[in-house]
Amino acid sequence: MNERTYLSAPHVTELEEAAVLRAIRSGWVAPLGPEVDAFEQELADYCGREYAVALSSGTAALHLGLLTLGVGPGDIVLTSSMTFAATANSITYTGAEPVFVDCDDTGNIDPDLLEHAFQDLESQGQRVKAVMPVDLLGKIVEHERIDTIAEQYGAVVLSDAAESLGARRNGVPAAAFGVAAAVSFNGNKVMTTSGGGALLTDDESIATHVRYLATQARQPVVHYEHHHIGHNYRMSNVLAALGRAQLSRLDEMPSSGSPPSPTTAPPGTTSGSPLSSSSRPSPVSPATT
Ligand SMILES: Cc1ncc(COP(=O)(O)O)c(C=O)c1O
Repeated sequence: MNERTYLSAPHVTELEEAAVLRAIRSGWVAPLGPEVDAFEQELADYCGREYAVALSSGTAALHLGLLTLGVGPGDIVLTSSMTFAATANSITYTGAEPVFVDCDDTGNIDPDLLEHAFQDLESQGQRVKAVMPVDLLGKIVEHERIDTIAEQYGAVVLSDAAESLGARRNGVPAAAFGVAAAVSFNGNKVMTTSGGGALLTDDESIATHVRYLATQARQPVVHYEHHHIGHNYRMSNVLAALGRAQLSRLDEMPSSGSPPSPTTAPPGTTSGSPLSSSSRPSPVSPATT
């Protein structure tokens, strides 16, 4: 009974090794660079979104998404009772209050209870600013209903798709729902950049503002000038290279379970072969999130 069950063990091959080496040898070891730009474009294309902003974590994506949508002290954000702490943490970072809505038998937020929560809070004179549904463990929420209910009450939807990149609902990719969505590349997710995340949206002004807040809210001038409180939340160029290699193999990634065996290499490739167990450290991402 000592065997661990991993949410999703990292599956890293010589393709990722070559990508990281490419980034290092290019000289772009400093944060940002061409790998980040390319990763953002490829991720946006994969998710069917106009824009992606690569960040240091999924939590950072949720935090900046909320700030950009104007969520702040005194606001209420409705979210799922079944999720990882980061969902609620990101809400509290903004000074807003998370209010938890129970799940249906899919483990995702129950749309009927969501509607009930809106009615309940409204009858108490409280207004809900945003809804943060969570696509739990690869199961995408009934977003069509969530969006309709939220719109009816004048709330915006920021989708927490941290656990579901690669999944689809009626052919629509996770992270394509809501005014914006967050994904995670934590080591326990299906694809990883060792640590990282991204915000996806079709709204250019949201993407631009998230980028601005993620780079210390620095003004676009040569000297250092700041008008707002910002954050240091951007993804590095080296990790973006790792992300590009992982994204190119996302649809063929092993779904979960034990660490990859060398037999799971994509057929006919040497570049996709997992690193040998002697060169691969044992996974250190237990099923904690
Ligand atoms: C549902 C959910 N939301 C948010 C996060 C936060 O992502 P990250 O670990 O990249 O900050 C995670 C995972 O860690 C998660 O499972």
